[in-house]
Amino acid sequence: MKFFIDTANLDQIREAQELGVLDGVTTNPSLMAKEGITGKDNIFKHYKKICDIVDGDVSAEVIATDFDGIVREGEELAELHEQIIVKVPMIKDGVKAIKYFSDKGIKTNCTLVFSPGQALLAAKAGATYVSPFIGRLDDISTDGLNLISEIRMIYDNYGFETEILAASVRHTMHVIDCAKIGADVMTGPLSSIVGLLNHPLTDIGLEKFLADHKKGN
Ligand code: G3P
Repeated sequence: MKFFIDTANLDQIREAQELGVLDGVTTNPSLMAKEGITGKDNIFKHYKKICDIVDGDVSAEVIATDFDGIVREGEELAELHEQIIVKVPMIKDGVKAIKYFSDKGIKTNCTLVFSPGQALLAAKAGATYVSPFIGRLDDISTDGLNLISEIRMIYDNYGFETEILAASVRHTMHVIDCAKIGADVMTGPLSSIVGLLNHPLTDIGLEKFLADHKKGN
């Protein structure tokens, strides 16, 4: 299972990278805005900075919503760095653009996916990753994890190679449940990754080991 961090915050990306378990980064326009990164030049520079920190895939989202605009923007983003994955929304022109990019060998992440049918379309169009937003489904009393299971079944039935990137992960249990179900990737905040470290018995056990060692020396 790949671990991506879902942020545009360079310090948090560095911290996850230094832990040694990071496989990539996802961003979106809201996360960029949260860091105060605005304007095309600054946004592009920021993507390059992220690519310099991590070794893996870095999702960069297009703003255009028409086919020509998505293609133009996506090609510019893909030119920026070999680690860039063009993130395209699940809309009609987005699906067409994913197919176009796939035929050209440009990797894509189909975002804002909330149903198995949308995930099927993304795979048919040749998306590299599909991003079902589990937290936002949970927010409206719908089982986000169930969507991951349904997509897993559909992709396995037909051997689709599109990787299931569980997005809108909010906490450690989402990560664990996604791992049980067989999501290929999860993307979440730093807290959902480092939170996996914690167990009180680890802390108690370590304290005792160190105290016993001190007694014997
Ligand atoms: O990867 C998608 C993600 O950024 C959305 O997360 O927490 O805003 O629903 P959230």
